Amino acid sequence: MAGKIPQYFIDELLARIDIVDIVDAYVPLKKAGRNHQACCPFHDEKTPSFTVSQQKQFYHCFGCSANGTAISFLMEYLHMNFIEAIEDLASRVGVEIPRDASQTLSTTNQSGELYELMEIVTGYYSKKLRNHPKAGSVISYLKERGISGEIAAEYELGFAPAGWNNLITELGGSDGSLKRLLKVGAIIENEHGGYYDRFRDRLTFPIRDQRGRAIGMGGRVIGDDIPKYLNSPETPIFHKGRELYGLYQARKVLKNLDSLYIVEGYMDVIALAQFGIRNVVASLGTATTPEHLNKMFRLTGKLIFCFDGDQPGKKAAWRALENALPLIRGDRQVYFMFLPEDEDPDTFIRRHGKESFFDINMRLPLSVFLFNTLHKNIDIKSLEGRSEMVSKALPHLKKLPSDPYRDILIQELSKITRYQAEDIKKRLLELTPAASSKAPLKKRTIEQNKGIEKVRWIVRSLLHKPSLAVEIDTTESLKNFPSNGIIFLCELIEFIQSRPNITLGGILENWRGTKFEQRLQELSLEEEVFNEIEVTSEVFLDAIKSLIKTNMKEFELLKGINSPSELTDEQKSLYRGLQKSGLDS
Ligand code: UTP
Ligand code: MN
Repeated sequence: MAGKIPQYFIDELLARIDIVDIVDAYVPLKKAGRNHQACCPFHDEKTPSFTVSQQKQFYHCFGCSANGTAISFLMEYLHMNFIEAIEDLASRVGVEIPRDASQTLSTTNQSGELYELMEIVTGYYSKKLRNHPKAGSVISYLKERGISGEIAAEYELGFAPAGWNNLITELGGSDGSLKRLLKVGAIIENEHGGYYDRFRDRLTFPIRDQRGRAIGMGGRVIGDDIPKYLNSPETPIFHKGRELYGLYQARKVLKNLDSLYIVEGYMDVIALAQFGIRNVVASLGTATTPEHLNKMFRLTGKLIFCFDGDQPGKKAAWRALENALPLIRGDRQVYFMFLPEDEDPDTFIRRHGKESFFDINMRLPLSVFLFNTLHKNIDIKSLEGRSEMVSKALPHLKKLPSDPYRDILIQELSKITRYQAEDIKKRLLELTPAASSKAPLKKRTIEQNKGIEKVRWIVRSLLHKPSLAVEIDTTESLKNFPSNGIIFLCELIEFIQSRPNITLGGILENWRGTKFEQRLQELSLEEEVFNEIEVTSEVFLDAIKSLIKTNMKEFELLKGINSPSELTDEQKSLYRGLQKSGLDS
């Protein structure tokens, strides 16, 4: 049995291939200065903004912000999975993949088994919709709701028959198979150690990830029982906050997504698809998370939220707005469609037709939704109202990245309140991110914020010029300050020191699949990705020294706080770490 591919092999493989050759084979590249360019294969464009750096072994599109390594390119462009991409690269340079036998039961392989099992479970239920004696009533139900056979087949709708152990009888023949069914959430363990099917007498909606792997499912009662829907629990392969129902199907039908509708329910996705609107996803009964938003913004610059017209729907829209703010830039637009009180996208499209979804009078741009909502119950004609409006708006504007979009919203707020834009900017600077958060007592100190900024700067510099790490011999003293950021920084420094020729691409691959993956990716894009960075080793070492100093100051400050309950968890751990290290004396 094959084991996990060791990381050293991936490092070496990346060192032997060249991202320029890999990409060029599919997307012919032209040399442009130090880099290579082409029209982006991931979105429609007429002038090239897709750029590949040989030196960094990294690509980035300034238009749609697709980015990554040679491995990511194969995964995104050719829809390979990670292992397939590695196999492809290995065969290009003619090497065998060593498998680390000691890690045969690695998570990747276990997950492989679970994906396969979910595929079988999905197939089992969709077959039941075609051949189970009781499937007739489900088919009539779908017909009544206006779902055609084609759409039902495309979304692989299925039928979980009534009964406690249909699936178990079919697929749970051994202890091992029961354990795996439990692991993917298809069955449930009772208090006596027995098992029963999770989905019983329900219409099933399989959920696939972006790559098309079966990962979970939802099941609706036929009729009015409660709960109306059951969903797969969180499992090693299914994370609600990350997945979007319908994304796989949307991408399969539409090569380029010029926009994406986000709706609340399975049936909303299906109904819109039935009417030929295919760029629709649903967020699986949870709030729209930053992860969802990042995922969608990688595919399109235009998101249209279309939630139910009821109170929960309106609340969900506001939550989506709050999570979207940090991600908004000039080339990204977010709209909100507000439906009448008692409608959802499914009922609305049936009543008003497809065109109603394209009617731009039906949607508000994020800026209008934001200001309208803040405006509510404020008498903007009075001085008090104007100042209240400014105070309410500041924490939201604070979340926006520095971008012309933010400047324009600032000007608009200034117009509404007749408060100078310059003053708004000043107030925004005074507002630390922590000050705008909900826990006023546990504020981050200014030193702490400075420290976080410094770590970000240092990590960013290392990503773009890994050679800077070579001269650092202060990781030991850095380790006296055990904040999350610094612990990570030390790991990064030591990693680069052990592989002095590593590129940005190599670093990103090393942290693929970890909790740092996304932060690293974001940080790598914050820099002018393809500019040679000007940081010299003197400047860099100074930054490290200054980081140590900032943390010392922070520590002095913490010593002055009498009540530990005022400290954030991070401060507490910093404090404890410093005490232990003896720096306290
Ligand atoms: P809705 O109640 O709006 O369902 O819940 P719907 O999709 O419009 O379904 P129909 O039209 O009544 O058949 C929206 C979403 O919230 C989740 C599901 O993901 C559902 O699609 N939900 C809802 C649950 O997970 N459990 C529930 O009991 C209800
Ligand atoms: Mn509905």
